[in-house]
Amino acid sequence: MATRIVTLPGDGIGPEIMAPAVELLRRLVADVEIEEHLFGGAAIDAHGTGLTDEVLGACRSADAVLLAAVGGPKWDTTDPSRPRPEQGLLGLRQGLGLYANLRPVRPLPALYDASPLRREIIEGTDLLVVRELTGGIYFGEKTRTADSATDVCTYSIAEIERIVRTGFAAARSKVASVDKANVLETSRLWREVVKRIHAEEFPNVELEHVLVDNAAMQLVAAPRHFDVIVTENMFGDILSDVAAMLTGSIGMLPSASLGDEADGGVGVFEPVHGSAPDIAGQGIANPLAMFLSVALLLRHGLDLESEAAAVESAVDKALDQGLRTRDLGGTANTAEATAAVFAGLA
Ligand code: NAI
Ligand code: MG
Repeated sequence: MATRIVTLPGDGIGPEIMAPAVELLRRLVADVEIEEHLFGGAAIDAHGTGLTDEVLGACRSADAVLLAAVGGPKWDTTDPSRPRPEQGLLGLRQGLGLYANLRPVRPLPALYDASPLRREIIEGTDLLVVRELTGGIYFGEKTRTADSATDVCTYSIAEIERIVRTGFAAARSKVASVDKANVLETSRLWREVVKRIHAEEFPNVELEHVLVDNAAMQLVAAPRHFDVIVTENMFGDILSDVAAMLTGSIGMLPSASLGDEADGGVGVFEPVHGSAPDIAGQGIANPLAMFLSVALLLRHGLDLESEAAAVESAVDKALDQGLRTRDLGGTANTAEATAAVFAGLA
């Protein structure tokens, strides 16, 4: 049966980096069917909404979704009655039940000097932040009185179990479960669930519990220490941005958002960066975060590990040989960066 991928180029540089990514997919996945849809601002222009029911339905029945980025000044509005591109993004995450956000952080040797941290610190770092994406304080009840405000943080056992399983399953050697169990009741429940899932289902994976403030410190002091970091929504939001600074450029970072088989098991794979309207239409966007997102799609969406590794190694090789797009201080354009990576595909 054909493998069905829905592609959502979105806005700004989105279509410019999606085109070579589609070519990469065609080279690596046999019998692949690619279905492209308007999304974000482009969909607002055509249909008045960032995500139509038809597109959500197409995503639900796909094997995986590859997304570039949405948004731009054209659709910026403070008028709540007008649609915003980001609503498409949220609708997609909710519609596919994407509760697990994975952000690998693997600074490449060729880019060590692009990080604000010293080479000795980041050398050899290869970690994955697994962040809970649909629960916790961001989604809890919010109240406001004249002189106070409240945000409620709630986690159910089931919500913790599923994200913790994602974290253990992704671990190569060890899991650092990050919480604030010395203060927060949700964190105490989190820790109990982590201990039980570890004992019952993943006894061979090394486990440590790290308090979030200590984790933030360790991430910049000794990032090599970590393999998988699994944590709740707000801690993960903050720690994944801290971890991102270990790599050189926003143009290098991929992400995966995953759900459960019960919700269709369709993952969305996308670069961390936005639609970069300041450079859109010039053909100079760095396509590497997009290519590394294709690698995550191959690995987590289609179970094609060796193809995923081939993409990552082709990216490494191109950088080793001196490929630098403008965001990395060089002059290569999108087409040249694409050619350099494709040349290194085994
Ligand atoms: P941005 O990530 O689009 O751009 C920040 C800076 O990084 C810009 O100078 C841009 O030129 C540069 N940059 C980003 N990606 C690059 C790439 N692949 N190659 C070379 N340079 C790159 O963030 P910004 O400017 O805050 O947001 C622009 C628009 O994107 C906004 O409408 C925002 O809402 C949207 N956005 C969408 C996201 C998504 O679709 N997931 C995520 C973040 C922002
Ligand atoms: Mg953030």
